[in-house]
Amino acid sequence: MSEARAETPVVGGKLAIVIMAAGKGTRLKSRRAKVLHEIGGKPLLGHVIAAASQIVAPEHIYAVIGHQAEQVRAAMASTGVCFVEQTEQHGTGHAVQSAGKAIAAYENILVLSGDAPLITPKTIAEVWRFHQAEKAAMTLLSAEPEQPTGYGRIVRKSPNSPEVVAIVEQKMLTPEQLSLREINMGLYAFRTAPLLAHLDKLTTNNPHGELYLTDMAAVLHAAGERVVAVQTGDPAELLGANTIAELVALDATLRASTANRLMTNGVTIFRPETTVIDAGVEIAADTVIEPFVQLLGQTKIGANCLIRSYTVIENCTVGDEVTIRQSCVMNDSTVANGAQIGPFARLRPGSEIGEEVHIGNFVETKKTRIGKGSKASHLTYLGDAIVGERTNVGAGVITCNYDGVNKHTTRIGSDAFVGSDSTLVAPVVVEDGAYIGAGSCITKDVPAGSLAVARSRQVTKEGWATARRAPQRKS
Ligand code: UD1
Ligand code: CA
Repeated sequence: MSEARAETPVVGGKLAIVIMAAGKGTRLKSRRAKVLHEIGGKPLLGHVIAAASQIVAPEHIYAVIGHQAEQVRAAMASTGVCFVEQTEQHGTGHAVQSAGKAIAAYENILVLSGDAPLITPKTIAEVWRFHQAEKAAMTLLSAEPEQPTGYGRIVRKSPNSPEVVAIVEQKMLTPEQLSLREINMGLYAFRTAPLLAHLDKLTTNNPHGELYLTDMAAVLHAAGERVVAVQTGDPAELLGANTIAELVALDATLRASTANRLMTNGVTIFRPETTVIDAGVEIAADTVIEPFVQLLGQTKIGANCLIRSYTVIENCTVGDEVTIRQSCVMNDSTVANGAQIGPFARLRPGSEIGEEVHIGNFVETKKTRIGKGSKASHLTYLGDAIVGERTNVGAGVITCNYDGVNKHTTRIGSDAFVGSDSTLVAPVVVEDGAYIGAGSCITKDVPAGSLAVARSRQVTKEGWATARRAPQRKS
């Protein structure tokens, strides 16, 4: 996608991008601001900012925020864009007026909608190129879909002219204009000087009583400025999400395209319609993803891995040749080459699973590093632990890392053997090559190469049970 930036003849400071994102999204019937609703695991506005950031640097992007401004600002802070507040929302024209001061120093601006997340840098760059080539005061992106109802309609100077005389919103259409098929997609380029010179000419003389940015087409045309429209890209890119059903449909579209991108790169995804793969996920070739897998956030998976059904992986980095069996839950962790995880394993944040490590069923790890070739195959909890290489952690071993107030570390060396059902009361160290007898409760450090057994001795009373079961003699 970086090509889009390379092709764009923009030096920072000349072009700004305004993203209108202040609206409430009344039709979503949600308390959350519309632009914070997610598709593909990322807020709508996050997608638009990502596309815009391919065209200009974030410091030249101005997000107009209003509804739930603080939440939107917090959610988008890491992108580095600037924010402009539109405290009351009086329409798209008013949104751009609110950014007036911010954009005054730029020669041109592009205006995008924060609720159209499928927009691509390529389409934005094409509108920008057309705007420059046409030396226009205003350029807008248009399309001719099967079903134009609901959108603003384009009135051209004459049928084949690039010039536009007006954009007419659905509710303002005259009976003759109802047959107009060309719609306004809501992506614009403006030369800043004429825009700012005429922006106060907008009126609220329309059914919503709002200031429509779309009216700038007629205002600028009447002022003798050049207004043009271009059709480019896939009209589906500008699909917005006005209802939850539309949001869910966009999510499916985005995830399908993510799955297709991965499959094009050699990843096998069986029944891709059942998987949930976020847009930021990377997977190398020859990895196989079984049905009903979820790969979320910034997850990276290497080559030749097998991810089996019902596994959910979020923000993890997984190496090559890794097998993750059914129903594992993994967050914010790393898994090195050749490891085998699951089924039913849980890797909590900060787990670092080394090369060729085996983590078996019902094993939970948290903030734990496990060295190459070690195994914890059954029913174990390893929290705040460091385990060396080739060590065997038996079934049911538990690191007691929490004393009710603080967390403590357990260190287990290399080539050690921790017998089944042992508890290691942290802080405690089991050194290299040590051996812990099954059922031990280890509270003291175990030196290298030694055996520790910490349990009561077995007492065997021969015949005791038989005698107890024998019929009682009557007295
Ligand atoms: C807009 C266009 C319409 C076009 C359609 C394409 C207008 C008047 N109409 O309609 O011609 O066909 O997009 O999708 O522009 N916003 C603010 N502040 C406000 C109002 C809106 O920031 O005061 C933001 C919204 O959060 C949204 C964007 O502007 O992200 C577009 O507003 P919306 O109300 O969705 O416009 P549409 O009805 O889609
Ligand atoms: Ca919209």
